[in-house]
Amino acid sequence: MKAIVTGCAGFIGSHLTERLLAEGDEVLGIDAFTPYYLRADKEANLAGVAGDPRFALVEDDLSTADLEQLMKGVDVVFHLAAQPGVRVSFGDGFNDYVRDNIVATQRVLEGALAAGCGRVVMASSSSVYGDAEAFPCIEAETATRPRSPYGVSKRACEDLANVYRSDRLQVAALRYFTVYGPRQRPDMAFRRLCEAACGGEPFELYGDGSQSRDFTHVDDVVDATFRCAHARHLPAVANVGGGREASMAAVITELEDLLGECIPMHRFEVQRGDVRRTSADTCVARTTLGWRPRVALRAGLASELDWVADRAAARSLVSVRNG
Ligand code: NAD
Ligand code: UGA
Repeated sequence: MKAIVTGCAGFIGSHLTERLLAEGDEVLGIDAFTPYYLRADKEANLAGVAGDPRFALVEDDLSTADLEQLMKGVDVVFHLAAQPGVRVSFGDGFNDYVRDNIVATQRVLEGALAAGCGRVVMASSSSVYGDAEAFPCIEAETATRPRSPYGVSKRACEDLANVYRSDRLQVAALRYFTVYGPRQRPDMAFRRLCEAACGGEPFELYGDGSQSRDFTHVDDVVDATFRCAHARHLPAVANVGGGREASMAAVITELEDLLGECIPMHRFEVQRGDVRRTSADTCVARTTLGWRPRVALRAGLASELDWVADRAAARSLVSVRNG
């Protein structure tokens, strides 16, 4: 199978690229290396696949690239590229969300249709639900009422998928729930918590820690996404949640327990756009994809902590060597 992974240099996209190559597939990765976080981090994300002859990288922007040309002969497009992040999507920053999410997604769908590539699997988000009235959120029942401009952009991408879905183009929108694990983005809570635990800046806790998330390990997210390549009936929309809803306070306690020490912390006010709670009903993904989450929160946290600790150790070695 030949696949395209947009956003291949990002957190989730780089893991998906590795999984596809491990399964024997050919991958054309597209990434614009947007400046949301360090280019060096994105290059490091791709270090494991860079020399693989079945992997090719195109550095280009989905909002302007000739996508029909790139998608010719491709069996499935995994569309993960986006401007992510809930809290910074307010203000002028929203321009990036319009270009990298809405415009890019419409162009990906047009490109796939024109190139005759029959299947697009795209990353949506739990943020389309906003503050739901009842939990867990069920795709066909829970209203989508995003509370952030980011969530609005992701819901618009789902609306675009509904416009383009046809006999000629199958499109699945996977609603990922707060994803964590090695290579997590530097703006996200677990990454910052682990960095604080490894001697970095104190963790800034927004609110009192009672907000909760259905945290999902990246291996589980990749597994659900990969299964969409081969599923007989692709779901139009499916929640991908780890089934391990936990409050931030509980996560901090768990990590401190793993470490055997307290994590330095400052408290800040609740951030604009932050929802109180997320929780996924995953029956659709279970029945259509044969998927279920497998990584327990404590084991998943340990995997991210190990990755952060290895990076911190490598950096201190470099600074010792440089005098
Ligand atoms: P990420 O920022 O690490 O990866 C996104 C990648 O897309 C980046 O490498 C970026 O350079 C690239 N990109 C952005 N705009 C582009 C454009 N116009 N053209 C080409 N490349 C572009 O983010 P991530 O956390 O890996 O998220 C991947 C996807 O999953 C996104 O669609 C995000 O909205 C969605 N999602 C993530 C989470 C999460 O918890 N991380 C949860 C729900 C949904
Ligand atoms: C995450 C991703 O960042 C979004 O891209 C994604 O779309 C969304 O999940 C989703 O599930 O749809 P979020 O749940 O805010 O968004 O994930 P984190 O950034 O890890 O934050 C989790 C909680 O920790 C939030 O309540 C946040 O306010 C808090 N937090 C975050 C802190 O207290 N301190 C920080 O430094 C960062």
